[in-house]
Amino acid sequence: LIAGPSSMVMFGVTGDLAKKKLLPAIYDLTNRSLLPPSFGLVGFGRRDWSHEDFADYVEEAVKEGARTGFRQSVMDQLRGGLRFVTGEFDETAAYERLTDVVKELDETRGTGGNHAFYLSIPPKAFPQVCEQLANSGLNASENGSWRRVVIEKPFGHNLESARELNDVVEKVFDEEDVFRIDHYLGKETVQNLLAFRFANQMFEPVWNANYVDHVQITMAEDIGIGSRAGYYDGIGTARDVIQNHLLQLFALTAMEEPISFEAADLRAEKEKVLAAVELPGDLATSTARGQYVGGWQGGQWVKGYLEEEGIPEDSETETFAAMQLNVNTRRWAGVPFYLRAGKRLGRRVTEIAVVFKSAPFLPFNDTDTKDLGQNSIVIRIQPDEGVTMRFGSKVPGSQMEVRDVSMDFVYGSSFTEESPEAYERLILDMLLGDPPLFPRQREVELSWAILDPVTEFWAESMPPSPYRAGTWGPQTAHDMLARDGRHWRRP
Ligand code: BG6
Repeated sequence: LIAGPSSMVMFGVTGDLAKKKLLPAIYDLTNRSLLPPSFGLVGFGRRDWSHEDFADYVEEAVKEGARTGFRQSVMDQLRGGLRFVTGEFDETAAYERLTDVVKELDETRGTGGNHAFYLSIPPKAFPQVCEQLANSGLNASENGSWRRVVIEKPFGHNLESARELNDVVEKVFDEEDVFRIDHYLGKETVQNLLAFRFANQMFEPVWNANYVDHVQITMAEDIGIGSRAGYYDGIGTARDVIQNHLLQLFALTAMEEPISFEAADLRAEKEKVLAAVELPGDLATSTARGQYVGGWQGGQWVKGYLEEEGIPEDSETETFAAMQLNVNTRRWAGVPFYLRAGKRLGRRVTEIAVVFKSAPFLPFNDTDTKDLGQNSIVIRIQPDEGVTMRFGSKVPGSQMEVRDVSMDFVYGSSFTEESPEAYERLILDMLLGDPPLFPRQREVELSWAILDPVTEFWAESMPPSPYRAGTWGPQTAHDMLARDGRHWRRP
């Protein structure tokens, strides 16, 4: 499916995300012939740039970040539709200039009056931009064309602020025209969760409390906070990635089968399971919170969070978060879901591990099964995308000794097709008006409702515990599982 004629106005185009992901994704879509020649892109920002300056900036970002290989002819085609408008978010005159530019693109490029507004900006700027879009009439579609708004997280910092933000957006755009980005949903392996669970017969019968002991969802990063101190400090891991990415992974893992993959059906199932989440009573023992201190990582000494540029020396922002969720449904009663995420951990890996109960009886000598663990299915989201199953197998020899082995599905060896980058998929879907991969406001609110008691408890009575960079988080995270007689998988 190829996007139709349209233009996109990007707010925050000089930011990190636009440079590293959004602009390269737009080029890659063009290069794959998924964006039409009638596509236009307008950058909006404070810089005193000409259209040409902006085009040079885009070209540089593309050369650095494009995945499909740089071709000047493709770039030139894209360049023909690049425009820049200088202005402040709240400057009425700038939106008048923007209106002129958008109209000019309609005429010269043939964008058909279809416009998307991409807000890759801090939430505090949302009200200004939305208000100005409404005042200038840019939000209003005419003659069957469409207007959409794309919003990047964070969607607030708790339930209340998420609702306030949404009120602002909903005054200006209809809910069906709001596309909230959670880029994890654009990842192939995340979508494969649906195929894995619902296209097969052999997994779903055991995907429940009768067979599953617990589930672990890990999102580990080896990077620190880099140059993002301004965004990250005060936000922390739980709000940065658990509220969105991990809870979406959780929802896709735990939800019931949707009757179709239409947006409404899919979202309804995710919402149901998010609404069924209950936190354990004692948050002091069922959550963990950490902050990295200097350590060796990949043979290099890296500094601690408090020594990073722009971080106050008494910051209590967490860079590691773990929590247990219980799910009040017939399928999952009694099965804990353990979520953990952090920066400067042992290595970069995101995975979902479904760990099964031990066989009720083992007709072997105890010594023969001493190396037998619990069966598990590990969905490797990234890197090394694929699925691993762990189960016991006989060790060759005259003894009946049983030991764990792995069986692997590896994307790279089974498929020759290349995976598009998450942002390519999401930008294309948005332009096509195809919403299943975009969370609805209710999902956002349900996710905050899960997280709020935890972050409130932390703020009051649980400062982060230190962990060394390059390790797997603070001791408290290990204690959290040890108390239940379990341990975190070492990915
Ligand atoms: C973002 C977070 O949403 O996801 C970042 O704000 C994090 O802190 C990033 O580094 C990780 O994304 P990915 O696709 O590299 O796993």
